[in-house]
Amino acid sequence: MKKFLLAIGVMSLLIALVVTGCNVGDREKQNFTEDKIDTENVTEPDLSQMKVGVCIYRFSDNYMTLFRRELESYLLKQGFSKENILILDSADSEIVQDRHVRTFIEEGVNALIVNPVDPTDVKTITNLAVEADIPLVYINREPDGDEEVRWEEGGWNVTYVGCDARQSGTIQGKIIADLGIENIDKNNDGVVQYIMIEGDPGNADTQFRTEYCIKALTDAGLESECLFKGFGNWERGVAEERVAEAIQSFPNAEVIFCNNDAMALGALSAVEKAGIRAGKEVKIVGVDALTDVLIAVLEGQMAGTVFNNYVDQAHFTADAVINYLNKENNPHYIGCDYVAVTADNAQTILENLAH
Ligand code: GAL
Repeated sequence: MKKFLLAIGVMSLLIALVVTGCNVGDREKQNFTEDKIDTENVTEPDLSQMKVGVCIYRFSDNYMTLFRRELESYLLKQGFSKENILILDSADSEIVQDRHVRTFIEEGVNALIVNPVDPTDVKTITNLAVEADIPLVYINREPDGDEEVRWEEGGWNVTYVGCDARQSGTIQGKIIADLGIENIDKNNDGVVQYIMIEGDPGNADTQFRTEYCIKALTDAGLESECLFKGFGNWERGVAEERVAEAIQSFPNAEVIFCNNDAMALGALSAVEKAGIRAGKEVKIVGVDALTDVLIAVLEGQMAGTVFNNYVDQAHFTADAVINYLNKENNPHYIGCDYVAVTADNAQTILENLAH
């Protein structure tokens, strides 16, 4: 009996040792695997598992629709999964946008891309992302200068991707100045009489495009006079109404500057409906290089536009997100150049964008 008990005791000890040994071995193996996964996570995250939350200020904005589609398709090409790219319409409401950002954070997104509804008031969004330690890339509607200083000083993973609106305004002004005063000045008074259709208030693109197109006329030695100025909210229909109103009072306007192309198309419709020959009697210029505008430029109804390169900007945005996920830094401002478009190069731009 004693021998039997001893045998059981030895067996139990052996089993215990084997089991313990196994456990230790497994734990070591497990630790090793965990270490390995950690290292991999630091250097090369699996992008197909990374969730990106995207807030677009308004889905119905033509230009942002092109941007959003390019962004999604490029993220997919980089290896993100469709179900992990979450894109929401802020419907031009700051409240809705804040709610979407909070929801994305609760859902555990790995990165945020925000096209702010109110670029003058993004503090809350920035703070939410920074507190949750989620990298944030703002796009297209540039937050106030103060914000960029905060990101810099805090050493936060927050950046902005966009173009310098002053450049687009300057190009618009030059396109008009290059036509020569003799081809613009219908009433021969030596002054360019113009209508200005602006985007939305409190937006850098609105402010600088409006200011710099006129500055470019002045720099080219042209005197100008503003006949009418109104907000078109970046929308074709609203701009059409504004321009229809304006040309009733000022049928002899010589130039219509529009802060974007959707509004330039609205201006074109209003002018045509009023029986004024666009291109001949009034020069219209926009920004973005929407397909319909490129065609109108080629047909001579519009003086030109400015290519707002959404392809590059969408790629820079996704690349910045990937850098952050790779634990790499980005500058706090990632810029992109505008390109002048006239009848000379509109066809090339049209063909390039078709691919
Ligand atoms: C501009 C663009 C406009 C409109 C606007 C929205 O960059 O030219 O068409 O999308 O952004 O803020």
